[in-house]
Amino acid sequence: MRPELEPGRVAVVTGGARGIGLAVVEAVAARGVGVLCVDHPSADPGAVEQACAAAGVPFAFAAADVRDRDAVHAAVARAADLGPVAYAVNCAGVDGLLGAAAMPAEEWRRVVEVDLDGVMFACQAEHDLMAGRGGSIVNIASMSGHVVNRGVTHAAYSAAKAGVIHLGRALAVEWAPSGIRVNSVSPGYTMTAMTRTNAPEVNAAFAEQTPMGRLAEVEEVAEPVVFLLGSRASFVTGTDLLVDGGFTAW
Ligand SMILES: NC(=O)c1ccc[n+]([C@@H]2O[C@H](COP(=O)([O-])OP(=O)(O)OC[C@H]3O[C@@H](n4cnc5c(N)ncnc54)[C@H](O)[C@@H]3O)[C@@H](O)[C@H]2O)c1
Repeated sequence: MRPELEPGRVAVVTGGARGIGLAVVEAVAARGVGVLCVDHPSADPGAVEQACAAAGVPFAFAAADVRDRDAVHAAVARAADLGPVAYAVNCAGVDGLLGAAAMPAEEWRRVVEVDLDGVMFACQAEHDLMAGRGGSIVNIASMSGHVVNRGVTHAAYSAAKAGVIHLGRALAVEWAPSGIRVNSVSPGYTMTAMTRTNAPEVNAAFAEQTPMGRLAEVEEVAEPVVFLLGSRASFVTGTDLLVDGGFTAW
């Protein structure tokens, strides 16, 4: 039987320095896949470097702000030095909680440029490395791209994440002839730096709104990502997988 992920291949992971991205790095590295982590120049590469060293896979860190198309292309291109690039997971993202009516243009742009433009630029660069040989891209969207979060003002974030889901469909159709599959995963509330700093009553309310009664652990998001990346999902493209403990079913 073919392995789920092919050892010796390389994955690009944006936003891999921490949170869901770091859990994705750990999951692919544990399967023998090398990692190029692309993250913001202010990110600490220590944990991701350690994870790849422990798994004994090739690793490099390339600093780039995903809002900068040229910087993202230059950073992602470095993955080819590690081996054949077959996988990419675009996790880099920011939250945005200002109310819509008074939101300044800069705040709208900050969120949309990181969460949507950044995914587009990364996908373009990853396409260039995969075209001809094929590959699999998973973008991290959010349940906020499907529903409006209760009690949270989230317009820019929700719009950007809905854009990520539909961008994935468009790229899937456009790049299917090149053998590149494109899908997204939409997590529900997940315990990371994004949520860990919330007041306890905020996370308690999130847990209460989730039929499974808790937030996800990052590994519970990373494993469905690996499924979509790998050979068990070989006929799956242009789809979004909700990993939300039932939040959007309620
Ligand atoms: N935590 C949640 O509850 C949750 C729920 C749904 C979706 N998500 C999505 O999952 C993804 C990962 O989120 P997380 O919770 O692990 O967050 P996190 O804040 O722990 O990690 C985000 C990563 O993205 C990087 N990043 C941020 N802005 C960047 C930029 N401009 N250029 C390059 N890198 C940048 C950060 O340095 C960091 O490593 C995000 O896209 C987020 O929207 C998170």
